[in-house]
Amino acid sequence: MSGAFSRLVAPTAFLWTLSLSSVQADQSTTITTDLYPETWNGWGVSLAWWAKIFGDREDLADIVFSLDSTYWSPGSETLPGLGLNILRYNAGACSWNTINGTVEMVASANIPASKQIEGYWLDGLSTDPSSSSWNWTVDANQRTMMLNAQARGADTFELFSNSPMWWQLSNLNPSGASDGGSNLPASQYQNHAIYLSTIAHYAQENWGLTFTSIEAFNEPSSSWWVSTGTQEGCHFDAASQASLIPILSAEMKARGLDNTIIAASDENTFELTLDGWDTITKATEKAYVGRVNTHGYEALSGPRSDLRAAATSAGQELWDSEYGDSDSTGATLVQVIMMDIKLLQPNAWVHWQAIDSSDWGLINGDITSDTLSGATTKYYMLAQFSRHIRSGMQILNSTSSNVIPAINESNDTLVIVAANWDDEQTFTFDLSAFSQIPDDGTAVSSWLTDTAGDNLYASSDGVVIEDKKISVSIPSDTVQTFEIYGVQI
Ligand SMILES: *[C@@H]1O[C@H](CO)[C@@H](O)[C@H](O)[C@H]1NC(C)=O
Ligand SMILES: *[C@@H]1O[C@H](CO)[C@@H](O)[C@H](O)[C@H]1NC(C)=O
Ligand SMILES: *[C@@H]1O[C@H](CO)[C@@H](O)[C@H](O)[C@H]1NC(C)=O
Ligand SMILES: *[C@@H]1O[C@H](CO)[C@@H](O)[C@H](O)[C@H]1NC(C)=O
Ligand SMILES: *[C@@H]1O[C@H](CO)[C@@H](O)[C@H](O)[C@H]1NC(C)=O
Repeated sequence: MSGAFSRLVAPTAFLWTLSLSSVQADQSTTITTDLYPETWNGWGVSLAWWAKIFGDREDLADIVFSLDSTYWSPGSETLPGLGLNILRYNAGACSWNTINGTVEMVASANIPASKQIEGYWLDGLSTDPSSSSWNWTVDANQRTMMLNAQARGADTFELFSNSPMWWQLSNLNPSGASDGGSNLPASQYQNHAIYLSTIAHYAQENWGLTFTSIEAFNEPSSSWWVSTGTQEGCHFDAASQASLIPILSAEMKARGLDNTIIAASDENTFELTLDGWDTITKATEKAYVGRVNTHGYEALSGPRSDLRAAATSAGQELWDSEYGDSDSTGATLVQVIMMDIKLLQPNAWVHWQAIDSSDWGLINGDITSDTLSGATTKYYMLAQFSRHIRSGMQILNSTSSNVIPAINESNDTLVIVAANWDDEQTFTFDLSAFSQIPDDGTAVSSWLTDTAGDNLYASSDGVVIEDKKISVSIPSDTVQTFEIYGVQI
């Protein structure tokens, strides 16, 4: 994050009124067989900061990264695993050693210990990862969660930086410059690049893990990264990003990181990503960057279609690499995901924190006081998507903005996620465009969650195929996911 707290408009102001306009009218949706051009690479979460505190909990690894059901004692509930396959590992910026006898990290008075991520490169005196300049045992919890996630099926790993190591910075403070401006002198660009590529190389050699991508910046053009800040952060304007990216590319090549791409630039909004992208692509060769990463803190506004067009014309992948909000019902989350899939058409969608306070997490907890409680309704809302639209599946189109279909063509399973923000009404899904549809009377599996939390990923039966259609009454403020077996395009 993100100075997003203050920017986020209350969710009710945003209720996205969809497709067929009149409130009482039943909704008829044609599921088309048009494949979205982009491959779906899955769902994810960032590990900083929650995994620094809770990373050694295997139950949390099960809950977040497997599809198993796990009893969660802090909430006295059994949670359906989210099965996230993507994670973002944060390369820390902090260490508490003294360099050359006198030089020490300057920490903001306002940064809690829980948000100070330990960095591996202690002093810059040697680039050799086996020298005493590097300490590979720091940050054990975040690394444990990453490796436990991999053991449970996670397959896509991003190494991201909130700030370069403190000793590379002009004011030795990994929260930012006093005025929110540049804090990394150009003479240290190479060290930032060496730091990140060395971690990725070390992970490959020693942890059995290949980072899919490296992201050297976080919300870089924003000016809220200041020396009195509450987290790690570093401002880079677009021209500085464009200078650093080729240096990072060279250091990655020097270490043979041929299976790792560069992602840029994780700006706070679609608008800022679009603004910076022009400068980055003009100043560097596109080949340096393999993916556009954007945060989605405009929630239900912002130039999604323009950013999709920019990524397509540059031949780049595109992730919504960070989104979070404090709406515990999950209504805003669902609306954002659906609008993203329809208009931004990202390859992947990444939530910010698995655990956080003030309803920002999927599960409530406090990283400062090390306490955990129950899952939010938002958790179950994400499960409605992440357990069913799996990495590698093909997203399809539909005629409604609140109906997202996807298909697994190898096992002939069609998934439909539908949201009803109106009064209870009948949704009819017309499947007649498909070449193979199950016979009349075939049962359809489904699961539903409502914003009131009365149904939390509850299975529902009684839905059947009839005349190449499914008709189902969906209650108000409910998300319902269907799996229909035996469907072919
Ligand atoms: C430590 O001293 C070396 C040798 O003089 C110098 O190159 C380096 O920049 C110093 N490091 C810091 C963080 O001041
Ligand atoms: C390396 O980090 C670990 C974990 O923080 C710490 O216990 C150890 O003392 C560090 N080693 C050195 C040589 O600084
Ligand atoms: C599609 O289904 C097959 C068989 O169940 C499964 O092995 C495969 O992983 C699924 N593909 C995706 C992308 O989920
Ligand atoms: C999906 O269908 C709608 C019309 O129902 C159309 O406006 C939109 O462009 C289509 N999107 C894609 C990605 O094909
Ligand atoms: C097909 O694979 C998907 C995952 O892609 C899974 O959710 C679904 O249950 C599978 N269908 C069958 C009939 O096994």
